[in-house]
Amino acid sequence: MKVSIFGLGYVGAVTAACLAEQGHQIIGIDIHPQKVEDFSLGHTAIVEPGLDELLRQAWRNGLLRGTLTSDEAVAGSDVSLVCVGTPSRHDGAMDLTHVSEVTRQIAAELGHRKKRHVVIYRSTMLPGSTEKLAQEFLSAFLRHGSLDVLYYPEFLRESTAIADFREPSLLVVGTQNAKPLHPDLALLFGRDAPVIDWATAELLKYACNAFHATKVAFANEIGRIGKHMKIDAQLLMKLLCQDTRLNLSPYYLRPGNPFGGSCLPKDVRALGHFARERGLSLPLIENLLVSNQQHLQTLLSLIAERGKEVVILGLSFKAGTDDLRGSAMVEVAQSLLGHGFVIRIYDPQLNLKRLVGSNRRVIDLKMPHLASVLHQDLASAIGQKGLILAAQQCVSIAELRKHVTAAHHIMDINGWPELRSLPSTYEGFCWE
Ligand SMILES: NC(=O)c1ccc[n+]([C@@H]2O[C@H](COP(=O)([O-])OP(=O)(O)OC[C@H]3O[C@@H](n4cnc5c(N)ncnc54)[C@H](O)[C@@H]3O)[C@@H](O)[C@H]2O)c1
Repeated sequence: MKVSIFGLGYVGAVTAACLAEQGHQIIGIDIHPQKVEDFSLGHTAIVEPGLDELLRQAWRNGLLRGTLTSDEAVAGSDVSLVCVGTPSRHDGAMDLTHVSEVTRQIAAELGHRKKRHVVIYRSTMLPGSTEKLAQEFLSAFLRHGSLDVLYYPEFLRESTAIADFREPSLLVVGTQNAKPLHPDLALLFGRDAPVIDWATAELLKYACNAFHATKVAFANEIGRIGKHMKIDAQLLMKLLCQDTRLNLSPYYLRPGNPFGGSCLPKDVRALGHFARERGLSLPLIENLLVSNQQHLQTLLSLIAERGKEVVILGLSFKAGTDDLRGSAMVEVAQSLLGHGFVIRIYDPQLNLKRLVGSNRRVIDLKMPHLASVLHQDLASAIGQKGLILAAQQCVSIAELRKHVTAAHHIMDINGWPELRSLPSTYEGFCWE
């Protein structure tokens, strides 16, 4: 394929070298004459293991050409990859100026030709950016069907960029409305690349980087406690990583209920307090409860917008237990009762007569009238209408189907996709 690459920085140069290695013909464009001149000679000033060798090889094979002019680059290629920078502005906002400028240039050249073209954004851009750029500059070509616009997030790490390009840690392609890829493009991405929509692909890149940053900050905060307590935090974190069931795993990585139960809130609170007492600042760990509380507030605001009659499916902090300590749904029920909502609760695990100890105290303190709103019978709990908060999978879909009507609105709090098949309207708490 003939590929033009806009931006010959770290991402652009590596992409150029690796695509040339696969036999593609590359035209590199940059605004810096020196970078273009170097590129044309199979060279780069960027320090990246293996990059110079690959570029030299590509140059020897006659696969590299550099230019300062975008029209020549677009005219001479089938695909344009956008790898220019998206730096931070002073206020932290993402600066899309370079990507906009390149898109404007590509659009100007596309206006002069009839051939099909593909624009692939690799620059890291906030969700909605590809849509905005497409609307502003490329909509006419998209309407004609003469252009494909893809968002193809880049996950390479500097210093291992070539190996990461050859074997990416994650490979997804964003298309308009997740439209399947044109078969020709499998040449660039491989046949198995999952296709998602533009905005999901854009947010995925930010989610990955925020997750990486969270991991680093977390390990460093544990390290600070370790140093203070003369504990070897390197060993501790190595042991933490050995738990691939709960720690390094998809577990706890699904949007849904605020965290709760008898341990997480209490232990996070205690660790924050322990650190504060010793003058250690652990903003990440200390703000976990703030974030959790905010999540609960978001849920309460959503509920308040959906009407005054609410059915709660599952009151305990998770399915399969009657433990009410730290349960977000107890907080929800308490708040709704306090604000005059009509509520009905169904939780087959819950037997009020058997509640003892701290579990009993939660109810006595927060919901002394629980008995009057707790229904033993699913049909009477569900009723004829109202908002159903599906907090836990405490009943089968088949049972629910017998009672849920089109007059109900289900809010799925915990990620239970089968709820969409019920006659009620469906809404995910924090997903589409
Ligand atoms: N560096 C990484 O490890 C990495 C990894 C993944 C994603 N990204 C993302 O990829 C994008 C590029 O990152 P980078 O590190 O390669 O940036 P960079 O600053 O090294 O390179 C960007 C290049 O774009 C050029 N440029 C600017 N405006 C131009 C224009 N109008 N036409 C042609 N060229 C132009 C610049 O001169 C520069 O050479 C960013 O959005 C970044 O967030 C970077």
